[in-house]
Amino acid sequence: MKIKGDALKVLKTFPDEFFDCIITDPPYPHLERHRAVGTTTRLVKDWFPTLSMEQIGLIFKEAERTLKKNSSIFVFCNGLALRDMLNTLSKIFEFRQVIVWDKVYLGLGYHFRNRVEFILYYSKGNHRPIKNIANVIRFPWKESYRKPYQIYKILLETSLDLSKENKVIDFFAGSCPLSKACSFFKNIKCFEVDVNFHEKTK
Ligand SMILES: C[S@@+](CC[C@H](N)C(=O)[O-])C[C@H]1O[C@@H](n2cnc3c(N)ncnc32)[C@H](O)[C@@H]1O
Repeated sequence: MKIKGDALKVLKTFPDEFFDCIITDPPYPHLERHRAVGTTTRLVKDWFPTLSMEQIGLIFKEAERTLKKNSSIFVFCNGLALRDMLNTLSKIFEFRQVIVWDKVYLGLGYHFRNRVEFILYYSKGNHRPIKNIANVIRFPWKESYRKPYQIYKILLETSLDLSKENKVIDFFAGSCPLSKACSFFKNIKCFEVDVNFHEKTK
């Protein structure tokens, strides 16, 4: 289900302990740095809005209320935002692991250019993954802001009991990789929220 709206407002409409898993990719303020200094990025006008760390904290606090006990949450994060995201999320959820996504191709930046992105794995209560995999995922990818659905699919397979019904949410959905990943599983109901869904996702 695709819902156009503000993450905080939409999350408030769900009951306590509703979701079995959260996978999301927040518009943290650190993304503005690339927009301000990048030669290519400066020329692009239709960027999505970013949020302050305070706003992000409020949204994840509300997300915690909607997550079932002993469930997982995965949050994409680049190196620049890592310290602030860990600080904010560690006050709300139980820290489990940092997963490294090796994109193989070089991304934004001028020196020591980003080739990896992080996925912060937290839980509410005790979450035990279904599959035992390494915390490095190698998946070649050239784009900076759109994520491959294949990574979401790996996270779903690793963390959910797919023999049961599951409800999952991405409240910063963008191009909707989560619903594409969920389409491979009959037992997952997917909710995706974004303030301004891109035309191509409708
Ligand atoms: C980093 S992008 C997510 C990209 C997505 N993972 C993808 O692969 O396309 C962050 C998204 O958050 C959305 N966003 C910004 N503010 C929001 C808010 N208050 N509520 C919901 N979504 C918001 C932006 O429109 C943007 O699509």
